Formats: sequence, structure tokens, C-alpha cells
Amino acid sequence: MKAIAIRTFGGPEGLAVVDLPAPAPAAGQVLIATEAVGVGGVDTLIRSGALAAYGFKKGHIPGGEVAGIVTAVGDGVDTSWIGRRVWGFTGTGGGYAEQAVAPVEEILTLPRGLSAVAAVTLGSAGVVAHFGLRHARFAPGETVLVRGAAGSIGIMAVQLAARGGAAAVAVTTASAERGERLRRLGATHVLDRSGAAGTPAPAGHDVIIDVVAGADMPSFFDRLNPNGRMVAVGAVAGRPPADFGTKIMTAFQKSMSFAAFSAATVPPADRHAVRSEQFAAAGRGELETVVHQVLPLDKAVLAHQKMAAGEVFGRIVLTS
Ligand SMILES: NC(=O)c1ccc[n+]([C@@H]2O[C@H](COP(=O)([O-])OP(=O)(O)OC[C@H]3O[C@@H](n4cnc5c(N)ncnc54)[C@H](OP(=O)(O)O)[C@@H]3O)[C@@H](O)[C@H]2O)c1
Repeated sequence: MKAIAIRTFGGPEGLAVVDLPAPAPAAGQVLIATEAVGVGGVDTLIRSGALAAYGFKKGHIPGGEVAGIVTAVGDGVDTSWIGRRVWGFTGTGGGYAEQAVAPVEEILTLPRGLSAVAAVTLGSAGVVAHFGLRHARFAPGETVLVRGAAGSIGIMAVQLAARGGAAAVAVTTASAERGERLRRLGATHVLDRSGAAGTPAPAGHDVIIDVVAGADMPSFFDRLNPNGRMVAVGAVAGRPPADFGTKIMTAFQKSMSFAAFSAATVPPADRHAVRSEQFAAAGRGELETVVHQVLPLDKAVLAHQKMAAGEVFGRIVLTS
């Protein structure tokens, strides 16, 4: 089978097309003939070598989110899965391939009307956005800021906050054109990356969903209302300064909270229930899946170059 492996850590050119035997599903796993593979920010981090401490080796196949047809199952897995079109989470790798294995508890049947491309655009991002908002105890009538809204998680957080009855949904993004696209998805106020607004925007927010983190994260604590909650769901700009908690303690009287959130802490059955509802909503056209570009699997280098250039609004998807 054709797959994409990391030949050298560093730039996108370190990815190479390779020919490998198809993996065999182990006990509790299924084999998926992939139709679509999502390109995620974590794939680019692994490829860059930034996560070397986690033991990723040369030859690693990136990609954690796939959709396609189950073609074989391992021991202990119901054979009725064979032939079904599913979304699947393969873990931290194995997805950029014509065939990929996933644990059976991490697959979900695709509803009719939802394409494989849409499924890998929504599957992980929607769950992170949903439970990130829940982690922030978001309630209807509150004001929300989504920091780093132009990626797949942010786009879902904007839509879910708007559908959930937010009084205002502010976003940070680098361009006015992206701001307009985000307005069409439910954003009410567009800020630049620093949080400055061209037009009047809420002075404070009850909830901040932060995909960015990095050096500027503490400055956004100033934008929380009393009892405001910031939840970091990503760190596309790297870690925040080590002393960021000082800022929260300095504004003690505002009773602000900060939390990190990973979907890995949500039980698989709860993730599946939400993903199932979101897939159905997307199939009905109530949630928009924003696909930046669909490229063939062997153009993975180009996909990563586009990610590195900051060109991507939504999701890049590889098809095999
Ligand atoms: N919590 C979880 O369970 C979970 C699960 C999966 C992934 N993640 C994490 O989520 C993140 C990826 O999410 P994503 O795919 O939605 O994001 P993304 O597309 O990589 O980035 C989101 C947006 O952030 C803005 N941005 C990029 N660099 C920035 C910077 N230096 N300063 C300010 N803004 C910047 C960009 O928009 P503009 O150019 O328009 O500003 C970009 O479109 C990763 O950190 C990944 O590890 C978390």
C-alpha cells in the first residue's frame, strides 16, 4: 500500500511516499481502506521533530483521523463492521496511508449524506470544541471569544457557541477576509491576533476558548469578565510564559479561572455520542465543515507546506 512516512524530521520535505505492506488489525482493531485523511496541527508538530521527546522515530506515518471502509477486523471484533463506512481515530499516527488500523472503540459509522472528507474535518475538531466549551461551563447568554478561530477547532467552537445561544462570539484572526468568513459561521466581532478590534467589541468575555496559547496568552486574561473562564484547547503558538498564573493571581478580585482541556480525558462513549450528533447535524446542513483543500495522499508535502505557510482556513484533507 502507499503511505507517507517521515524520512527526516524538520521541514515538510522530510515526508516521503513509501510502499509498505498493509497493517494487520490486532485484537480489538479494525482495518480501514482510507478514503480521506485529515491533516492536523499535531501531524506537523511530530514531523518538525518538536515532539521527539515522545519517542517518534524516523519512518513514523503521521495522521490520526481517517474515514473509509472497514475491510478486516482483529480478534474479538464483530465481523459485521466489515463493509461499513466509518470515521476512525488511529492515535498519533498511521493515518497517512491507503490502509490504517484503529481500535474498534474509536470508530463510528458515517451517516448517509456525510462524506469522508467532511467526517475527517469535523470528527475530532467538533468534539474538542464541544467539550472545551463545556469545560468552560459556557451557558446561553454569555459572551465568548475564540482565540485562533480560523482552524478546524476554532471554526467549530464559533458555530457551537453561536448555536448554543452566546450573546456575542468574538474571534481572533489574522485577516479581514477570514474575519468575514467567520462572521458567516456565527462570529459577531472580529479582532486581530493581538485582540484589537477595528469596530466596537465587547470589553470583556465570560469564556475564552484558546487554540493558540504562546507568549501572548496572559494578555488575554485582561479580557475576561469577573468569574470568566479561559480554556486552552491547543497551543499552536507554543507554550505560554512559565509565570502566566501570576496574572490571574494579580487580578484576584475578578475570580478568573484557567484550565487546559484535552479530549483524551473524555470517555470514548461520550465522545462518540457527541460526534454522532454532530455528524447528523452536518448531514442536515446545520453545522458547516470547512475544507480548505482536498489533495491526493502523495501531495502530503504540499499539504504540510500550506500548513507551515499559515494558508489554511479550516482543514486540509488527503484522499487515497
Ligand atoms: N484539546 C484537544 O483535545 C486537542 C485535540 C486535537 C488537537 N489539539 C490542538 O489544537 C491545535 C490545532 O488546532 P487547529 O487545527 O484548529 O488550529 P490551527 O489551524 O493550526 O490554528 C488555528 C489558527 O490559529 C491562528 N494562529 C496560528 N499561529 C498563530 C500565532 N502564532 N499567534 C496567533 N494566532 C495564530 C491561525 O489563524 P490566523 O492566521 O487567522 O490568526 C490559525 O488558523 C494544536 O495545538 C493541537 O495540538 C487539541
